[in-house]
Amino acid sequence: MKRHEGRVAIVTGAAAGIGRATVEKFVAEGASVVAVDVQRDALSWAAGLDGVATLAGDLTDPAVNAEMVALAVSRFGALHAVALNAGIVVQGTIQRGSLEDYDRVMDINVRAVALGIRAALPALEAADGGAIVVTGSVSGLFGDSGLWAYNASTAAVVNLVRSVALDIGHLGIRINAVCPGPVRTAMTANVAGTDMERSMQARLPLQRFGDPTEIANVISFLASTEASFVTGAELPVDGGVTCGTGQWATTGGRRAGFL
Ligand SMILES: NC(=O)c1ccc[n+]([C@@H]2O[C@H](COP(=O)([O-])OP(=O)(O)OC[C@H]3O[C@@H](n4cnc5c(N)ncnc54)[C@H](O)[C@@H]3O)[C@@H](O)[C@H]2O)c1
Repeated sequence: MKRHEGRVAIVTGAAAGIGRATVEKFVAEGASVVAVDVQRDALSWAAGLDGVATLAGDLTDPAVNAEMVALAVSRFGALHAVALNAGIVVQGTIQRGSLEDYDRVMDINVRAVALGIRAALPALEAADGGAIVVTGSVSGLFGDSGLWAYNASTAAVVNLVRSVALDIGHLGIRINAVCPGPVRTAMTANVAGTDMERSMQARLPLQRFGDPTEIANVISFLASTEASFVTGAELPVDGGVTCGTGQWATTGGRRAGFL
């Protein structure tokens, strides 16, 4: 029996990257999926796939959140799992980053997630429980230079998950956050092949960026009944980057200079 056989899931940010890998994982595990993204053309990869319905829309709009849940129920009959993964990154120091960027990143990474949770709860409750998985970030657990607004938004969403877990546990609905480290997607494409990428990799115990499938695997697990006693947790999926103090690059198997 496949992990999600007979279950219905929603995945947001499904056009590419971690979201696309999550749709593919859910489908491979037997789920029917509503795939949602603001990029209509990029979402077309999923159109016409067996057991997949697509919805193009901006998740900062409450109506789009209501529509994705209605589509899951009307097309596939129920809703069991929701992966709220859509997100953006904005860059800039505290002195120079724009407040428009701050508002936008909070709107998409935090408010839209709250809208998604609120929209999904009645259908999840009707299905006698279910699970929500939010994509946060290791940037929500610590700070990064030049990413203050993104750091603030991902920290907010991790704590949102904890609070919501307290409010909905009695309904039998679980909610958890995955916190990826650097993953090879459009979001990190600007550092591919640069010194910045090499320096980031040197800080990762596993010495490499993650693949979107490695995040999707964990989202699939947390969304499944195998994780039935896990709620309110944030799970780093980060090649180990958050297990260090951040003071040094790892030795990468070489002898540390001062030892
Ligand atoms: N790639 C990384 O290194 C990394 C690290 C940590 C966390 N994350 C998080 O993972 C999630 C997925 O990012 P990704 O790396 O796959 O990047 P990505 O840019 O490939 O995917 C994000 C998707 O979200 C969609 N989206 C953005 N705003 C939207 C909106 N308002 N409505 C609907 N869809 C919207 C985009 O169109 C895009 O397809 C994000 O929440 C991101 O913050 C990524």
